[in-house]
Amino acid sequence: MAAQKVFIFDTTLRDGEQVPGCKLNTKEKIELALALEQLGVDIIEAGFPISSPGDFASVQEISKIIKNATICGLTRAVQKDIEVAAEALKPAVRPRIHTGIGSSDIHIKHKFNTTREDILERAAKATRFARNFVDDVEFFAEDAGRADNAFLARLVETVIAAGATVVNIPDTTGYCLPHQYGEKIAYLYNNVPNIDKAVISCHCHNDLGLATANSVAGAMNGARQIECTINGIGERAGNTSLEEVVMVLKQHSSLNLYTDVRTELLNPLSILVSETMRVPVQPNKAIVGSNAFSHSSGIHQDGFLKESTTYEIMTPEEVGAAGSKIVLTARSGRSALAHRLRQIGYEFDRDAVDVLYQQFLLVADGKKEVEETDLHKLAEQYVPVG
Ligand code: KIV
Ligand code: ZN
Repeated sequence: MAAQKVFIFDTTLRDGEQVPGCKLNTKEKIELALALEQLGVDIIEAGFPISSPGDFASVQEISKIIKNATICGLTRAVQKDIEVAAEALKPAVRPRIHTGIGSSDIHIKHKFNTTREDILERAAKATRFARNFVDDVEFFAEDAGRADNAFLARLVETVIAAGATVVNIPDTTGYCLPHQYGEKIAYLYNNVPNIDKAVISCHCHNDLGLATANSVAGAMNGARQIECTINGIGERAGNTSLEEVVMVLKQHSSLNLYTDVRTELLNPLSILVSETMRVPVQPNKAIVGSNAFSHSSGIHQDGFLKESTTYEIMTPEEVGAAGSKIVLTARSGRSALAHRLRQIGYEFDRDAVDVLYQQFLLVADGKKEVEETDLHKLAEQYVPVG
């Protein structure tokens, strides 16, 4: 069977921008939207137009400029929100309204103080209303991760019948385990009669560090859209990280799923988002962290220097990273030391490296990382034994 496409829905500019201190102005949002389009994402969620005049303007301006990706605006299941989003999205070549409401009993009781039946009615009404403005309406069933599956299936069936083209099943609180989230998507495929009329979307949060695993589990069970952000930024512990899901699908071709993301642009975009939003990327972050291609222990360095695939499952070039690094610490071995010395122009035979290595360890024990300047000193002070 031919590989199937998973649509990448980027919400860096909406869910990502909800991070405290990350607010973007219109100019910054346009710059990121252009970079996201270049990256090859299918859908850009540009903002929540009713939330502020600035967000309205950003969605409107992005709608004017972006020609290839679908531009999406978020709304609550409220007529005024939908009208405002439709207005902001008017210039878009491919506009999408993303509307929705709570689906778990916790949300239905405490947020909406209402009943499941009322939620079904409001969901259908909002979806139908949104379809008056655009052909592409995505419905989100907020907190679907904790919703009762039988009720969720009724809700999904209802909104598809009302005209939803995409149905988003958010694990809003990052609660699910991967097998539970996967089973939820499978349950919907087995119990919603009209499900083939819509694309099912995963929108997972990272409160337990499972957002990427849950999204992949969703895709393995039939979902064909993944909602994610660059660097995984987003509310609380963040959203599914775009670079992670894209590379999981690329690395595991046996899943028979692909995206249209140009992976060599992942690291440049990660840097751009980090700088624009002023949120540093953790060094050990998969794919885009500064240590993602660093090797520091002697055993790993020795293996890597013999053959890079011993310790790297992808190349830095493939994801646009600067390159693999051999970092010298007190855990490094002789081959790493010889390699780094060679890189800066010193060629020593095995006996010399043995001697230098003992001196290197004395330096290394006193600091976190042995720098190039330390290596020059070591090499220049080297005196052959005997
Ligand atoms: O996490 C969530 O449920 C959301 C919705 C608004 C889609 O961000
Ligand atoms: Zn979210």
